[in-house]
Amino acid sequence: INFLIEKDRQAICDILVQGLARQEYRGYDSAGIGIDGDAPNSVVFFKHVGKVAGLRKLIESSPVDKKKVFLQQVSIAHTRWATHGPPSEINCHPLKSDPKAEFTVVHNGIVTNSGDLRLVLQKRGYKFESETDTESVAVLSKYIWDTQPELRNSFTNLVKAVLKELQGSFAFVFKSVHFPNEVVTARRGSPLLIGVKTEKKLKVDFVDVEFHNPEPEGAKELAPLLNPGSPTIPVPNSNLLSPPSATQGQKLFRTQSRAFMSEDGTPQPIEFFIASDAAAVVEHTKRVLYLEDDDIAHIAEGELHIHRLRANTDGGVSPGRGAEQHRAIETLEMELAEIMKGKFDHFMQKEIYEQPESVVNTMRGRINFDNNKITLGGLKAYLPIIRRGRRIVFIACGTSYHSCVATRAIFEELTEIPASVELASDFLDRKTPIFRDDVCVFLSQSGETADTILALRYCLERGALCVGVVNVVGSTISRETHCGIHINAGPEIGVASTKAYTSQYVALIMMALQLSEDRISFTERRNAIIAGLHALPQQIANVLNNDKALQEMARATLKVSRSLLIMGRGYQNATCLEGALKIKEISYMHSEGILAGELKHGPLALIDENMPVIIIMTRDSLYPKVQNALAQVTARKGAPIIICCEDDPAVQNGMYKNERGEYKAIVVPGTVDCLQGILNIIPLQLLSYHLAVLNGFDVDFPRNLAKSVTTE
Ligand code: G6P
Repeated sequence: INFLIEKDRQAICDILVQGLARQEYRGYDSAGIGIDGDAPNSVVFFKHVGKVAGLRKLIESSPVDKKKVFLQQVSIAHTRWATHGPPSEINCHPLKSDPKAEFTVVHNGIVTNSGDLRLVLQKRGYKFESETDTESVAVLSKYIWDTQPELRNSFTNLVKAVLKELQGSFAFVFKSVHFPNEVVTARRGSPLLIGVKTEKKLKVDFVDVEFHNPEPEGAKELAPLLNPGSPTIPVPNSNLLSPPSATQGQKLFRTQSRAFMSEDGTPQPIEFFIASDAAAVVEHTKRVLYLEDDDIAHIAEGELHIHRLRANTDGGVSPGRGAEQHRAIETLEMELAEIMKGKFDHFMQKEIYEQPESVVNTMRGRINFDNNKITLGGLKAYLPIIRRGRRIVFIACGTSYHSCVATRAIFEELTEIPASVELASDFLDRKTPIFRDDVCVFLSQSGETADTILALRYCLERGALCVGVVNVVGSTISRETHCGIHINAGPEIGVASTKAYTSQYVALIMMALQLSEDRISFTERRNAIIAGLHALPQQIANVLNNDKALQEMARATLKVSRSLLIMGRGYQNATCLEGALKIKEISYMHSEGILAGELKHGPLALIDENMPVIIIMTRDSLYPKVQNALAQVTARKGAPIIICCEDDPAVQNGMYKNERGEYKAIVVPGTVDCLQGILNIIPLQLLSYHLAVLNGFDVDFPRNLAKSVTTE
C-alpha cells in the first residue's frame, strides 16, 4: 500500500513476488496476486499452482502494462497451503466476491463455519467458483455491502460485520473496488504485522487502539442463520500462541485512535507492508507493528488506524497483550534467516513448539466438545463400508508408521475390527494378500512417499477401500485414495517429523472414535478420551515448559553416549520406537526402542552400568509390568532415566524413588492411556533436538536423509 509515492506496476509486482518468495520456506502449493487494473475500480489477478518462480514468469509474459504508474494503490498476494479444496488456480488466493471483484480477500487460517455461510449465501443467489473456505468471506462481504447500505461509508465497519459471522482462525487482508486505495486487515489466531516505511520521521510511533461498542451495527439479519457451529477448542496461552481474546460485553469504551503523521502534521509519502511474517517485509523496512488477536487495522490516505473487534463486560478488555491500548512500532533486529524461524534456532525446534497449536488445528471443526460428537467430513460417506470391513490394515513408513503403532490398540478396542500395521516396503516385499472387504489406511505427512504410494496402488488394484491420512492437501496419496483425513498440522520443514506425528496420532484417535460412535457400551470410554483430547493442548504446553531441564539432562547425561535404549510397553511401544528414531535421525547416536516385555529375550544382555536407558513408566494398566523391567535393569546396575506421571507417588523432588534406589525422572502430566503417548514423545523430541545441537549437527537437514523419500 503506497501513498504519495510513485510506483510503476512492475515495481509493485516485484515487491509482492519477492515477499512471497521470502515465505517459501514455510511450504505452500500455489501462489497468487491481485493488483489494481487499468480500468478504474478493476482488479487483475495472477495465479499459479507450484513455485513462486512460476508466478513471476506468468506475470512477465502477461500483456498487462507494467509501466503504468500509481501514486497510491493497494495490492495483495498470498501463498496457499491447501486445506479446503486441492491446489488449483481456482482455489488460489486472492479470492474474489464476484466476477467484478467488488471484494478481494487473502486469508491464512481456517474458517470452520464456511460451509454454513456458503449454503446461506447460495440460497440468496450468490455464486461460488472455488472450494475454499475463504471465498465465503469474500462473498459475505459483498452480501453485507448489498444488503446493509448503512455500512457502506466505512470499510472498517463493513469488515467488522463480516468478521462477526466467522468462526475459526484467521489473518485477513481485504481490498475492495468500493474503497479504492484502502485496505482492512484483521487477525484472530494467525500472525499479522504491518511494516511502515517513511522518508521523514514520524510524529507518533504508535497507534492508539480504539475500543468500540461490542455490538456493532449490522449483520443482525444474518446472525441467527449462521449459528452455531462447533465450539472452539481452548488453545493454551503460550508465547507462541495467540493471547486470549477479549469477550463480548455491553458498555461502550472508546479512546481516540491516532494515526501516523509527519512531524509538521502534513501528509507525507508513506508505504505500508502487511504480512503474516516479518521475512516478507524486512528488506523494505525494519519498523513493524504487530497486531493482536481481534485487532482490525484500516489503512487509507497514508494513515493507519487500529480498532478492536470486541471488548469485555466491564467496558475494558480482558487481560493479555490484546488489552494494551497502544500498538507500538518495533524495530526488527534479526537477520532474514532468523526471522523465518521466529525466535527459534531451527525449524525442528519451532515445530516441536507448535504442537499445542497444531493438535488444535487437527481437531478444529471436527470435535464438538459440548455433545462429544466427532465429524470427520472426509470419511463421512464411507463410514458404513469401513465398519463392515473385515480388517483394517495401516500402511506407512518412518514416523507415520509409528503413529499407526501408537493407535492400533485403541482402534481394536473401540471398533472391534482386527487391525494390523505394516511398513510399506515390507508389505510390498511380502506381496501381502489384500481383499475387497479390507480397509487400508495410508499414513503420510508428505503424501508423496514412494513406498507408501506403491502400496496404495497395490491395494487399489485389489479392490480394497483406501483411506489417506495426510498433511499435504493435493498430494498423490490424498488424490489417489477414496477418502481420508487431512491432519492440518501446517507445513513441516525439519526432516525429522515432530508435529506431524502428534497430529497423525490425534487424527487416528478421532477416526477410531467416529467409527465407534454407534456403540453405546463404549460411551464412557469415548467420553473420557474426548475429555483427554480437550485437555491435550494445555498439557503439551506444560511438557514444553520442562525444556530447560531436558537440555541440561542431554548435556549432563547423554551427550557423550554412544547408544541409548528406550523401553516401554503397550501404548508406549510406539513412543519408544519413535523416540529412538528421533535420536538416530538427528543426533546420529545409536538408539533402540525396546518392548519391555522382550527385554529378557535378548536386550538385557546389553545392560550394565554404562548403558544409558530411558524407561517409560507413565501410569496405565501395564505399570506393574514395566516396574518389572525397571527391576531387571537396576539389578544389572543400570541407572535408567524414568518418564513418569506427575501424580505418581514415587515421584519426589523431580526424582523417581523406589525401594531399590532413586532415578532421574522426566515428569509429564497424566492423561487417558491411549493419549499418553502424545505427551510422552515430546520430551524425547526435545532430548534428541538438544543432543544434535550439543554435538553440532545440522538439526533440520540431517546427513543422508530427505524429508520426502520419493524413490523406492
Ligand atoms: C522420511 C522422513 C521421515 C518420515 C518418512 C515418511 O524417511 O525422513 O521423517 O517419517 O519419510 O514420510 P511421510 O511423508 O510418508 O510421512
